[in-house]
Amino acid sequence: MNENPKTIHLREMRAKSQLGGGADRIAAQHKKGRLTARERIDILLDKGSFREMDAFIEHRTHHFNLDEQKFLSDSVVTGWGTIEGRLVYVFSQDFTVFGGSLGEVHAEKICKVMDMAMKTGAPVIGLNDSGGARIQEGVVSLGGYADIFLRNTLASGVIPQISAIMGPCAGGAVYSPALTDFIFMVRNSSYMFVTGPDVVKTVTHEDVSFEDLGGASVHSEKSGVCHVTADSEADTLFLIRRLLEYLPQNNMEDPPFVQNGDDPLRMEEGLNSIVPESPDKPYDIKEVIRMIVDNGQFFEIHENFAANIVVGFARLGGHSIGIVANQPAVLAGVLDIDASEKGARFVRLCDSFNIPIITFEDVPGFLPGTHQEHGGIIRSGAKLLYAYCEATVPKLTVITRKAYGGAYCVMSSKHIRSDLNLAWPTAEIAVMGPDGAVSIIFRKELEKAKDPVKRKAELVAEYREKFANPYVAAERGYVDDVIEPKETRPRLINALEMLQNKRDANPAKKHGNIPL
Ligand code: HXC
Repeated sequence: MNENPKTIHLREMRAKSQLGGGADRIAAQHKKGRLTARERIDILLDKGSFREMDAFIEHRTHHFNLDEQKFLSDSVVTGWGTIEGRLVYVFSQDFTVFGGSLGEVHAEKICKVMDMAMKTGAPVIGLNDSGGARIQEGVVSLGGYADIFLRNTLASGVIPQISAIMGPCAGGAVYSPALTDFIFMVRNSSYMFVTGPDVVKTVTHEDVSFEDLGGASVHSEKSGVCHVTADSEADTLFLIRRLLEYLPQNNMEDPPFVQNGDDPLRMEEGLNSIVPESPDKPYDIKEVIRMIVDNGQFFEIHENFAANIVVGFARLGGHSIGIVANQPAVLAGVLDIDASEKGARFVRLCDSFNIPIITFEDVPGFLPGTHQEHGGIIRSGAKLLYAYCEATVPKLTVITRKAYGGAYCVMSSKHIRSDLNLAWPTAEIAVMGPDGAVSIIFRKELEKAKDPVKRKAELVAEYREKFANPYVAAERGYVDDVIEPKETRPRLINALEMLQNKRDANPAKKHGNIPL
């Protein structure tokens, strides 16, 4: 029996749409060490789960002879599939078609999957590789971007939105990712900038390479725009799959519970000796985190940006948690502008998606200095404070050592609705460190002292004895218990389970006014 020619035609159309900009452009993309839009989707999603939409769409522009260059599917591939069996929507920009630039139908395709994701409550993953607004389509492209930006904003806090930057992304192509929850970048192969090196040279006469202007290291270390980097496209896509394990499908669900075999009652003897006797000596808070969480697995976010605070996801007794921890091994764990903003954004992310927040606190205070004051440390510190105050998810705090000054209040203190605050015996909870405190309150006495150095040492010892411990706070109920460090894991898991049905809310309002 002969096949219907219309079926054969469909098959040919399908095959054509799979070719994007054609074999030569695919070869050029591979030559740059990059995958095509469809190859990326294949790696990202569960095998065979991708269902494409709008594969037969074509652009509608006539300007600049564009009607002579039409490509089925245009410059973005869209659809849905699964990751570990869970539904996700995906769009993957196709650099082989007009440099992945965004025109009218490209924007319509993205908006369509975003609308479906909102209706069905599932994450959207955008694989970005685009020269920005399609210049030949003029204001229609700009309108298309604005349509996407609106959807990114309305979806924020409703469904997780994840962006991967897989190639050069310029102009409008960076603002949609900037509105999403996470940006992943591929080292030495992906770039983000509002205007590229050529425009920079024209306007500011600066000579700068793609990498130095907007490469993965710039955005993961200096600007903080990028949350996670990887060495290859495949690694980047793999890390997105891993991240999703910690997130719910939408804000109405809890994150997935995963039994992973780690004993909830496990005690870690090593924790009892991890904090050095000298309060000025550093230790690595990531080591503490790994000893406490399930199987030592910690998915760090913003690893190389503001390393004086550590944020990321892990599991405790199978429950997904977000961790915020001061890092005494970097700048003594001080809170500065970048650390405050990094922490604040992460706290809000966890609160949006019902992920309990565990705070490990060892903080000498806010970083002093004109650079910080003039840069707005007051506003940035307030963001972290605001984020913690506003969060209604279960909040647990472990004070491992220093909890000084304003930073004591900020880092999920009991006063701002933390549910359970535990302190290690090494905790020092005070308005400031002994040295600074003695210099201020005993200034006159020290000026008159015969041997000021000796007298100061005595006063510091006295202050330390009185205040540099957890018991003054425990006496007032500002910490709920003082525990042996080794008990931390079972105590936190027990608290998470106790708080499983926690209900808390903020007063009815349109929205708050976080100090942006
Ligand atoms: C139309 C574009 C394009 C664009 C690239 N192409 N960008 N076509 N509109 N925005 C086309 C090129 O003409 C070329 O087509 C093909 O894509 C590949 O581009 P190349 O330049 O050959 O590639 P490469 O050397 O890798 O450089 C990639 C790039 C560069 C860095 C992205 O193309 C570039 O700088 N593009 C312009 C970036 C930019 O300024 N965009 C801002 C737009 S304004 P052929 O047929 O020759 O192979 C904007 C405002 C939105 O986005 C604001 C919203 C807030």
